[in-house]
Amino acid sequence: MTDATTAFPDRRARNVMWAYITTGIAIFGLMVLVGLGMRAEQAQWLNYGPGLFYSLMTLHGAGMITSMVLCGMGGLWYLMNRERAMDPGIAWTAYAFMTIGVVCVIASVWPGGFGASWTFLYPLPFVGATWPSWATGAFLIGLALIMFGWTVWCTQLLGCVLRAYGGLRGATGWDLVFHHARFEASGKAEPPPYAFAALVTAVDGLLAAAGGMLVGIALIVHWLYPGVAIDPLWAKNLTYFFGHTFANLTIYMAIGLVYYALPKYADREWHTSAVLAVAWWGTLLFVAIAYFHHLYMDFAQPQAVQYVGEVASYLAAFPPAVVTIFGGALLVYRSRLRWTMGSMFMYAGLIGWLIGGIGALIDATVPINVSLHNTLWVPAHFHTYLLEGVALFILGWVFWNLETHSGLTSSLRTRWLTGAGIFGGGGILLLGWYVAGADSVPRRYAAEPAPGPDIAAWASIGAVILVIGLIICCVEAIRLAKSPRTETNP
Ligand code: HEM
Repeated sequence: MTDATTAFPDRRARNVMWAYITTGIAIFGLMVLVGLGMRAEQAQWLNYGPGLFYSLMTLHGAGMITSMVLCGMGGLWYLMNRERAMDPGIAWTAYAFMTIGVVCVIASVWPGGFGASWTFLYPLPFVGATWPSWATGAFLIGLALIMFGWTVWCTQLLGCVLRAYGGLRGATGWDLVFHHARFEASGKAEPPPYAFAALVTAVDGLLAAAGGMLVGIALIVHWLYPGVAIDPLWAKNLTYFFGHTFANLTIYMAIGLVYYALPKYADREWHTSAVLAVAWWGTLLFVAIAYFHHLYMDFAQPQAVQYVGEVASYLAAFPPAVVTIFGGALLVYRSRLRWTMGSMFMYAGLIGWLIGGIGALIDATVPINVSLHNTLWVPAHFHTYLLEGVALFILGWVFWNLETHSGLTSSLRTRWLTGAGIFGGGGILLLGWYVAGADSVPRRYAAEPAPGPDIAAWASIGAVILVIGLIICCVEAIRLAKSPRTETNP
């Protein structure tokens, strides 16, 4: 294996990582404010009307997912580049496509007013549209550019993983699992845990991109030539295959960063074992086929795949719960873990992932889905593992880097204040969605039926507390970033 630092200065790799991460965090910060504005509308604190609400909802959904994707891309690229040097020029090309795509999506919503949700489910972008046709085109083209950048990045990452560990056989840990004694005797090193995250992200990411591009191009053709008909069930399958997988991979990219950084706080190693390898094989498969649970309500969908959806959703939970979350708890247990902002975020993120995952499993159970489908239970569970999972993993990674390079950590008071804001305020925000969902309040309503607005009011207070926590966190990150560097390269 080549150490990237010998191939080109580490600074160039760092520049790539920070460009992706700071862009992602900037979008995240903006989208938090948009989210707060939406919750405040549902609480009837604001009254800007449904047209703007649906535009903001579209922007918030697309923006948030893309922001987490960008942060995960930067971090994972940096880590894998240490295993096997990659060409930064390709990473910059992917970055350029993605940022131009983001600009197109923003323009489609403002000033365009596009509001068919980030899932752009056919025929919604075209039927009863209150926005001009160019806005639909700008949104679709923007998403295609994001997908193109993502494809470039996934291809480069896949090449890196395959070259670093001797092809698919080495990268999947095949010999580690099936020929253990021979593998040990060969003296070869197994791929580190985060390399499995990279492999799964690259393979499932390319599959998702192919599905997304296929339906995206079909929609662009329909936008140009409305006479070209599209089968709605075909479009829905591809759209959710893309959307579910793309959103889901944000977790698996970010957990790769945790595999690397959390053990550093515990002075331990997160080893690759045969169990970990097999768990990631499961993730590779289940992430790709769990999306069927989005189509339970589609009577025209073949019944067999409804079973596939339910079984895959359940099986998808095992590798993270048994191997990563339980493994993380064991790693920390009796380790004298150094509690800093970085370790606090990563450990709390594992808890958020677990809780959100349980909420998702409940919803993926067919008899329960009949009641919870399209209620606020859905944003409840996905905000739990995205906001209190992925976003925390990313913040943990950022602070780990800042702490390592400045040699400084944050005071106990700062950690308490940040934690109270982000976990406390975030908890109140999330609880509002769970309670309202259990009470059948529908999702994606600008003006919710009772008791939605009352719940939205106290949930919005939680969101304000959360924003205060995020501001404290941001000020602390800037303080660490501005401190003189000790340059202990991680
Ligand atoms: C302060 C934090 C946040 C607030 C206040 C917030 C608020 C909201 C609100 C009010 C909705 C509409 C829910 C509905 O009625 O259906 C929503 C939807 C959504 N949010 Fe958030 N959110 C926050 C953070 C996040 C994060 C961190 C992510 C992802 C990383 C995220 C991703 C989404 C997505 C994908 C949707 C679905 C949009 C759609 O249905 O098309 N949000 N959010």
